[in-house]
Amino acid sequence: MAGEDAERTFVMLKPSCVEKGFIGEVISRFERKGLRIIQLKVVKMSREKAEELYKVHYGKPFYEGLINVIAGKTVVAMILEGRKAIGVVRRLIGATDPAEAQPGTIRGDLAINLTDNLVHASDSPESYQREYRIFFEDEELQTY
Ligand code: CDP
Ligand code: MG
Repeated sequence: MAGEDAERTFVMLKPSCVEKGFIGEVISRFERKGLRIIQLKVVKMSREKAEELYKVHYGKPFYEGLINVIAGKTVVAMILEGRKAIGVVRRLIGATDPAEAQPGTIRGDLAINLTDNLVHASDSPESYQREYRIFFEDEELQTY
């Protein structure tokens, strides 16, 4: 990985992002910021994958609703790389609740529902390590 502070993060465009036709809009924001797309794929989410991605939320009141908006649907999974990429992407995405997210952020500009908030992104290096493996093999990451 090139450069000081370079790190990778995992991002998933949720089904609503795909259905609304915002794939290009959201990816364009990441590219304009200067993040590099290391890997990108369109995935039909199994219930197992959805439960694995969100297992830290198992048992919370919103868990079933969250699994139901993801499972069986089409998402876009990607790995992005850049300086401090994990924090940079979280800030570009904005607050979890789109109704509270700042204008200028992805959720602030393009979403309004809480569960269906357009994008998922890793919140720490540990989350990244766990999450990218749900979707990608290590051999797929040798793209640059
Ligand atoms: O996605 P983010 O990391 O910002 O939020 P989270 O706290 O890790 O929650 C994961 C996802 O659960 C959110 O993106 C929402 O889709 C959903 N959620 C919800 O439906 N209701 C809540 N009160 C909190 C989260
Ligand atoms: Mg989270």
